[in-house]
Amino acid sequence: MFNKNDTIHTMKKYNFDEIIERRGTSCVKHDMMDRIFGTNDLMPMWVADMDFRSPDFVIDAIKERCNHEVLAYTFGSDSYFEAITGWLARHYSVSAQKNELHYVPGIVAAIAFAIQAFTEKEDGILIMTPVYPPFIDLPTYAKRRLVCSPLKTVEGRFAIDFDDFEKKARDCKLLLLSNPHNPGGTVWNRDDLKRIDAICRKTGTIVISDEIHADLVLPGYKHTSFTTVSPEAKGNTITFVAPSKTFNIAGMGSSVAYIPDEALRNTYFGYLDGYEVANGNVFAYTAAEAAYRHGDDWLLQAREYIAGNVEFTIDFLNKNLPAVVAMRPEASFLVWIDFRPTGFNYEEIKRRLLEVAMVALNDGYTFGGEQYKGFFRLNIGCPRAVLGQALERIAAAF
Ligand SMILES: Cc1ncc(COP(=O)(O)O)c(C=O)c1O
Repeated sequence: MFNKNDTIHTMKKYNFDEIIERRGTSCVKHDMMDRIFGTNDLMPMWVADMDFRSPDFVIDAIKERCNHEVLAYTFGSDSYFEAITGWLARHYSVSAQKNELHYVPGIVAAIAFAIQAFTEKEDGILIMTPVYPPFIDLPTYAKRRLVCSPLKTVEGRFAIDFDDFEKKARDCKLLLLSNPHNPGGTVWNRDDLKRIDAICRKTGTIVISDEIHADLVLPGYKHTSFTTVSPEAKGNTITFVAPSKTFNIAGMGSSVAYIPDEALRNTYFGYLDGYEVANGNVFAYTAAEAAYRHGDDWLLQAREYIAGNVEFTIDFLNKNLPAVVAMRPEASFLVWIDFRPTGFNYEEIKRRLLEVAMVALNDGYTFGGEQYKGFFRLNIGCPRAVLGQALERIAAAF
C-alpha cells in the first residue's frame, strides 16, 4: 500500500499542455459562466483556478481513502499537520507548531470569520485596491467600514502609498493583505512588509496575511511570509495558506490558518471551534496532506509552465496589441490588463471582449470600483494553445 509518510521524488514529467474537457463537471469556470456573463459560450479566462490536471499524488491519495468505504466523521491527524508544518518550513522558513494551525474551509470564509471574531459593526477594515473582490464584499456585507488605500503603479508594478496607508491604518482594526497581491501578481518584498508591520503594530491593526498565491511565486522572485518579517509580527498576524491555487484543488476546500500568537489564536480558533464552522472533511484533509507532502516536484514544473505562459502573454500583447498595458505578474497566473489606452470607453471595451472576442475576463470594476473600469484580469492558468487562441481573439477584437 502507498505509504502516505513517504516523500516521493519521482521527477516525473507532467504535461501541462493537455487540454481537458471541463464542461459538464459543475465547474465554476465553464458551467457557472452564464450567471455572471449571461452565456456559457465564451472562452473562460476568468475565475482563478487552472485548467491543469490536479496532481496524480493527490488523486491517488483520495482514491486510496475512498477504498476504505467509510466516509464518516473525521479530524485533522498528526500526519496532516506534519505535512503542513513541513511545507511551511521547507519553503518559507516558517516554524509553525501543530497547535498554531487550524483547518479552514476556504480563505474567503476564513476572512469572514476573522471579521466576526475581531471586529464589530462600523469598525474600520483596511484594504489596498485594486484587490481580490471578496476583500471588498465581506467587510461591506458585515457592515464594517471599508477603508481603501489605492495602490500606485511604479515601473509597471504595484507599490504601496505608505503615507496614505499609515493615515488610514490609524482608524482600522484589521488589514486584509493579499501577499502576494491579486490582481497584478505583485510579490511584496521584505521591506514593504516590514513597513506594513511597523505601521500596523503602531496603529493597533491586526494583519490578515492571505498567502494563497505564495506557492506560485515565479522563478526569480521570493515570497516572504508575513510572520517572518520581525519577531513582533508573529504577535500581530493571522496567516492563511492553502494548497488550492497551488495544486489546482480549489474544489476540495482545504485551507489553513496559522496563528503563532496565543491571544489571537484563542480568539480565532475559539470562534471556529465554538461555532463549529471549520471541522473539515475526509477529502479536504487527505488532499491537503498529499499535496503538501509530495508536491515539490509538481510545483516546480507548474511554475515553469506558468512562467512560460507569462512570457508568451507579454510577448504576444507587445507584438499584436501594443495599445494595452499588461502588468507582468511576479506570482500566480493572473494578468491585470489596462485596456483604456486602446481609446475605447469602458462599455465598448467590455462589448468587444464579450461579444466580439467572446472571452470571459474578470472586470476590473469589481476589484475596487469606478477607477478600475477599463481594466480586466486575464487568467493564464491553462494550456498554452488555449491561451494563444484567447489572445488571438482579443487582439482581433481590438
Ligand atoms: C487573494 C485570494 N484569497 C483567497 C482566494 C480564494 O480562497 P478560497 O478558495 O480558499 O476561499 C483567492 C482566489 O482567487 C484569492 O485570490
